[in-house]
Amino acid sequence: MTEIKTIGLLTSGGDAPGMNAAVRAVTRAAIFNGMKVKAIYRGYKGLLSDEIVEFKTQNVSNIIQQGGTILKTARCKEFATAEGRKQAFDVIQKEGIDALVVLGGDGTFTGARIFAKEYNIPVVGVPCTIDNDLFGTDHTIGYDTALNTVIDAVDKIRDTASSHERLFFVEVMGRDAGFLALNAAVASGAEAAVIPEVSIKDDLLTEVIQNGFRKTKNSSIVLVAESEVTGGAQTVADRVKSEHPEYDVRVVVLGHIQRGGSPSAFDRILASRLGYGAVQALMEGQRNVMIGIDHDQVVYVPFSKAIKDDKPIDMSLVDTLRSLSI
Ligand code: F6P
Repeated sequence: MTEIKTIGLLTSGGDAPGMNAAVRAVTRAAIFNGMKVKAIYRGYKGLLSDEIVEFKTQNVSNIIQQGGTILKTARCKEFATAEGRKQAFDVIQKEGIDALVVLGGDGTFTGARIFAKEYNIPVVGVPCTIDNDLFGTDHTIGYDTALNTVIDAVDKIRDTASSHERLFFVEVMGRDAGFLALNAAVASGAEAAVIPEVSIKDDLLTEVIQNGFRKTKNSSIVLVAESEVTGGAQTVADRVKSEHPEYDVRVVVLGHIQRGGSPSAFDRILASRLGYGAVQALMEGQRNVMIGIDHDQVVYVPFSKAIKDDKPIDMSLVDTLRSLSI
């Protein structure tokens, strides 16, 4: 095992609240253990173009509470090519970087996994995405804050929905995963969640809406996960409206507001634990793993498993929502 003296650190893909807390944790834990940290700006894009600065502890002062990422982020097509990765490796050698810590989601780890294998360089990942769609970790950094942002928004929508006696379809992010939509639906007392993991037949949705909207409630809120499977909130709303022209329907797409804001206490603690865990993992000789949290314990999950796209939705939560929304 070669001794790791210098860690390269980057944030990539969609930003997530708590990324900065993780940048701070990796930087401080590495320096605490006698290593150097080279901060790579703009994700893999910045790695290719050598946008790299050495970080000292003060570079990460006063960022634990900030949303976004001070390292900036990008989605990089060139890194998906062999030539792009060769260029990245040349920069890594030039900068004297012995190992990489990458903060991001599915796309970030997919690139990391190929790169680590091709060039035999230790890479560990810290899961940062509001989607919570990585297998092997109960939570990803940013998910809890985004969940709270969604319920704040839904609480506000509920005021106007009930004043006007309207039916609202609220579209929530998640890139083909329903964690945010389902959990936010339970937490905000919504009538239903339309998510890609559970096929909701048209008549079931109508039944849910009729039960609540027509019989016992004067307004209703349905959360819809963005996805080709659900078609998004507008598609679902159009369908319901065409069957029930008498309903006063509105659509809200929450969009990128879900990615911003100061991280919750939960996300700051999670980011601190996982960032620290990433440095520990490298010191233990781990490579090609995501640092996750499982039953409150830090665990190492091979990238190949984390990105497999089969993190299950808790079906009991689907039943809970159905029972509580009558
Ligand atoms: O993966 C995070 C995420 O916010 C998804 O929920 C969403 O589908 C996507 O990123 C949006 O990406 P962009 O900011 O590039 O439009």
